[in-house]
Amino acid sequence: MKNLFKLFSVLVAAGFLFASCEGPMGPAGKDGANGADGADGQDANETCKECHTPDVVDAIAVQFELSKHSYGEVDFEEAGNTGCTPCHASEAFKYVCANNIPSTFVKGSNGKYANQYVATPATALGELTCSTCHSSLHTTYAGTDFSPLTNTAAVSMTMWAGAKSINIASDGGMGNLCVKCHQPRPLTTSSTLTDGRVVDYDSLKTYPAITFYDNVVGNRAPNKVVPSYRTHVHYGTVGAIYAGIGGVEFPGSLAYESSPHTATASCQDCHMASISGRAGGHTFNVKGNFNGCNTTNCHTGLSSSSDLWTATRSSVKTLLDQLAAKINEVGGATPILHTETDPEANLWAGNTTGNWDGYLNIYDPSSNPGGAWKNPGNTNSYTQAQKDINNALPTFPSLTNGIMGAMINFQMCLREYSLGIHNTKYTKALLTNTLETLNAPV
Ligand code: HEC
Ligand code: HEC
Ligand code: HEC
Ligand code: HEC
Ligand code: HEC
Repeated sequence: MKNLFKLFSVLVAAGFLFASCEGPMGPAGKDGANGADGADGQDANETCKECHTPDVVDAIAVQFELSKHSYGEVDFEEAGNTGCTPCHASEAFKYVCANNIPSTFVKGSNGKYANQYVATPATALGELTCSTCHSSLHTTYAGTDFSPLTNTAAVSMTMWAGAKSINIASDGGMGNLCVKCHQPRPLTTSSTLTDGRVVDYDSLKTYPAITFYDNVVGNRAPNKVVPSYRTHVHYGTVGAIYAGIGGVEFPGSLAYESSPHTATASCQDCHMASISGRAGGHTFNVKGNFNGCNTTNCHTGLSSSSDLWTATRSSVKTLLDQLAAKINEVGGATPILHTETDPEANLWAGNTTGNWDGYLNIYDPSSNPGGAWKNPGNTNSYTQAQKDINNALPTFPSLTNGIMGAMINFQMCLREYSLGIHNTKYTKALLTNTLETLNAPV
């Protein structure tokens, strides 16, 4: 408004200037009749109301409070970290999307590889809010500003250093918004013992019997990865499992195919279905809400007691249990996988009988002080007491390529959360073929 007044007074002033170029002023004439009222101008407040109403922004903001996007704290904890924030902080996410930052690894002048998928120090911050996903809010101030979404393009997988990509094509690629963040992270080799490049997952698959980590050699070359509590592909494995791309695909009896969800549904169909309880809409939760399943062209009467739900989940749970047992055999009587029953600490508690969380049970003074296995890595930063605890523990076993690939696949299939609902066929193929590989006589 203020600007309009300013503009108006500028025009009036210009009119006077122009008038002053004519000859001397005559006597003032009689006042003319009042002109007709002008048409109403466009009032900014009206377009604000396309969104700022109780049933649009206000209602959605209330739903959003129930979303971990809103109440999660990693955006705060990792602020300033350019490697973590592309998925955890708003400005960093918008930066990697807008600038199409690649997920390739590039060799530096020091001979070491570095992941290109990073934000800048200036953008490595910001809570996840409406504008994280709705990138044009408050640009034209019209109701249409909810489009476009920040990313709908195919997602180059950071786990694979860009060698594979995911495209959830239905609904205009809306699922690619989610997958951009909900994707696994790369398992990298040590930049001290070797060049820091991504682990060659294909060699894990092709040569399963070869030694990957030799415990006699320990923290020295030619070992390329020294196992630790956090030897993992992070939390967002659902994007890869959903798309049916990116596991360590050991050959075996089941084909690597995807179930119908992959091509016909998209993340928001189930996760943003109509609200029920504390799920649906912008809570992004799905637990207990079957509204997304029971829609035209999908399912009818599906619930948590349907066979499709219970049988799928129990068969995947059995496969996860079997694979965990096989991985744990490497440790003899002591499991090498880490277990945690507290659902606050283990987001997958209950999804396996052993409550595994995908981490390794290796001693770490801060992350895993109760670890059962000696940390084979660098312990220079430990206190003497911590070194003593570590040294008293048994030596972590050697690992074959097959076991390393199995651990990745176990993490992928456990951490997709749904026990096979996202993509039953791909999950079962990964787990079954991995078990077949490990059970094959060497
Ligand atoms: C396309 C929908 C849309 C339109 C149109 C729109 N807004 Fe917003 N506005 C939003 C959203 C979404 C938020 C964030 C709400 C939240 O985070 O809870 C917001 C937040 C705000 C805030 C709070 C900012 C803050 O930092 O907390 C103000 C003030 C605001 N809008 C003013 C306006 C005004 C004035 C107009 C009209 C000139 C307008 N908006 C038009 C969607 C819109
Ligand atoms: C900017 C990155 C980003 C985008 C885009 C994104 N998410 Fe998330 N999402 C996260 C992060 C990070 C968390 C965990 C936050 C935390 O714990 O601090 C999360 C949490 C969640 C959770 C809760 C998980 C739990 O442990 O309870 C669900 C469900 C979810 N997201 C679904 C989606 C869906 C569906 C979409 C697409 C419509 C989406 N997300 C888009 C980053 C993203
Ligand atoms: C490629 C995207 C991506 C990157 C990069 C990333 N994360 Fe995450 N992270 C996620 C997603 C997605 C989730 C939430 C998964 C869920 O809950 O389903 C998550 C979850 C987490 C959690 C668990 C939060 C909880 O709710 O319990 C922590 C802690 C975390 N990340 C830390 C980090 C740190 C530290 C870094 C950097 C070293 C990092 N992340 C880098 C995608 C990423
Ligand atoms: C994690 C990503 C994400 C976040 C954060 C997010 N949205 Fe959305 N929003 C979406 C997606 C995806 C859709 C499209 C859903 C569909 O079409 O099924 C959507 C749709 C909408 C729509 C309907 C748009 C239309 O054109 O009809 C509105 C309104 C909306 N969001 C408002 C908000 C508000 C307000 C906030 C913050 C409180 C918010 N969104 C936060 C992803 C997000
Ligand atoms: C066919 C429906 C469906 C689709 C489509 C779907 N999900 Fe899920 N999702 C589920 C179910 C079911 C669960 C498990 C809920 C439970 O434990 O009860 C789940 C769990 C999750 C979780 C863990 C949080 C939670 O609430 O348990 C995340 C994160 C997630 N999905 C992300 C995604 C992403 C990202 C996509 C798209 C790539 C996606 N989902 C597509 C049904 C779906």
